[in-house]
This record gives sequence, structure tokens and C-alpha cells, in this order.
Amino acid sequence: MIIAIDGPAASGKGTLAKRIGAHFGFPVLDTGLLYRAVARDVAAAGQPLDDVRAAAEQAKRLDPASFDDPSLRGGEAGDAASIVARIPEVRAALLDYQREFARRAPGAVLDGRDIGTVVCPHANVKIYVTATPEIRAKRRYLELQTRWLEGAPPAPTYEDVLADIVSRDERDAGRTAAPMKMAADADLLDTSDLDIEAAFDAAVGLIKRKIGQ
Ligand code: DC
Repeated sequence: MIIAIDGPAASGKGTLAKRIGAHFGFPVLDTGLLYRAVARDVAAAGQPLDDVRAAAEQAKRLDPASFDDPSLRGGEAGDAASIVARIPEVRAALLDYQREFARRAPGAVLDGRDIGTVVCPHANVKIYVTATPEIRAKRRYLELQTRWLEGAPPAPTYEDVLADIVSRDERDAGRTAAPMKMAADADLLDTSDLDIEAAFDAAVGLIKRKIGQ
């Protein structure tokens, strides 16, 4: 059983995917981490992020053991990921790993941008999680504020966070290779007016309806 969760940056899809995985007892793959790790490895090799050959090379030799690297979290790593994610050779190199993960018994949850459209077009359940850019920016901004530490550089302003979200949406939805898009047979979950509990309840309801429970 495959549950595909797609949606834009800061939509809450990662948190939802983890909660859904825990609820149904399925492993969860945050596929954004793959692209974040490729971008990290390209930069570490001293290559520009849009260098097709260098990025494809790093994608082919990606080590899943390095996915829990804390440097992969955060907006900067996400922006860098969004640049390497435009390269079709990078996407192709990451497909097998994602599809193998999806085949795990008794089921798997994958979250990303193209899970329901490209990686797992036959997923049993497809949920497209979204919220307005302003709401996503507000959530991300508040989260950054709570993590701000004494002596650290100033946290970005709300306007900075919103601009980052809008430009990432444009890059992810506007690329030719597997653009961020709601699959025709996906259910839309707009969390603009929902907190995480309500979004989780709505997602579980959708899943149960889909699998006939
Ligand atoms: O979900 P995330 O913010 O960690 O993703 C970081 C970037 O990686 C995202 O802006 C675009 C890319 N990505 C992708 O192209 N396809 C996916 N399935 C997941 C992420």
C-alpha cells in the first residue's frame, strides 16, 4: 500500500507524512532529503549547483546513510535542492531508490512534489497538501522565531520567508522535469484553516475512505 503526499514548501506535508506513517505503521520517506543531499554533495565537491554532469554524478552515488545530516534542514538547503531538482538526470538517478522504498511491505508513505505524478503514479492514496503562500510563510516564520537563539544572526523577516516560499513554488512548479503538480486522481487537502491535528484527522479520513475502511 503506497500513500503519496505531495505539496509545496512549508505546506506541512512532512509533518503529516510522519504522523500518517506512525498511525498506519508504515515507513516514511521524505524525498526532499534526497535532493537536499545531492545539493550538499555538489557544493561540497566545489561544483555549481546547476552543473548537470556534477549533479547527476552526485545523485548516482548518493548515500542514504547521510540523510540525517542536520545541515540538510532549513531554507537554504531547500533552495539549493530546488536548483538540482530541475535537472532531469538527477531526478532519473533518484527514481529507483524512491520506487524501491515505495514497494516496502506492508506499505510506505512518501512525501515530495512528484510522488503521485511520476514516482508512484499507481499509489493507492494520493494527497496534495497545500495552504496559501501567506499562511505557509507565517507558519515557517513563527517556527524560525521559536528556534532563534541568543547570539545567532537575526532570523529572517516574514517578508523574506514569504519571498523565499513564492520563488521556490515558482521554481518547483515551473520546471519541465516532473514539476510540482497535483495528480489528476489526488485528493486536495487545503490546510490554510486547519491546525496540524485537524489536518491529520482529515488526511486519515481521506485515506480510510480511499482504502475502504
Ligand atoms: O520538500 P523539501 O522542501 O525538503 O524539498 C526541497 C526541494 O527538493 C524542493 O523545493 C524541490 C525538490 N524536490 C523535488 O523536486 N521533488 C521531490 N519529490 C521532493 C523535493
